[in-house]
Amino acid sequence: MKLRTISKSEHETKHIAQTIASCFNLGDLILLDGDLGTGKTYFVKGFAEGIGSADPVTSPTFSLANFYSARNGMELLHIDLYRVESVDEFNDLGLTDFFPQTITVIEWGMKFAGIFDDYFSVSLAYCSDKKDAREITLSCTGEKHIATMNSIAQKLPNLISC
Ligand SMILES: Nc1ncnc2c1ncn2[C@@H]1O[C@H](COP(=O)(O)OP(=O)(O)OP(=O)(O)O)[C@@H](O)[C@H]1O
Ligand SMILES: [Mg+2]
Repeated sequence: MKLRTISKSEHETKHIAQTIASCFNLGDLILLDGDLGTGKTYFVKGFAEGIGSADPVTSPTFSLANFYSARNGMELLHIDLYRVESVDEFNDLGLTDFFPQTITVIEWGMKFAGIFDDYFSVSLAYCSDKKDAREITLSCTGEKHIATMNSIAQKLPNLISC
């Protein structure tokens, strides 16, 4: 099952992420996919707000990972794999040890998707005709996130099932 929507602005991308954030729990993994500048970091900004974080979200392209605290002691782990060249390099960072205790969002996450079991995927793509429009496709692997997809379908208007 895939769900698709169009965002017409950075504000709308943030709002979409903010709206669906409450559908996720600790231990969940979200892989963000999409070309440079499609809005992956903007998506994380909205997502962090949606789980009640007041921390500033910045791109971890160089730090590789940022932690943000959210409501009820929850933590968001924000990773960017753009500069990580191999699965070994990623594993050496030891970040997966945190996954059970955080909600984890990984920019360029599909690079090493094969090493992850159950994940939710958010793919952002440019729309050829409009500069600020992005096609956002939501999908999941494994059983775990089927319920997540259903609760997102209740929350977001204008979703196309595909
Ligand atoms: N609909 C939209 N959604 C998100 N960002 C948009 C949208 N329209 C325009 N933008 C602009 O596109 C850029 C998205 O930047 P952002 O850093 O979120 O991209 P990114 O996918 O994280 O890039 P990178 O691959 O470098 O990490 C911003 O400059 C933002 O203002
Ligand atoms: Mg980014």
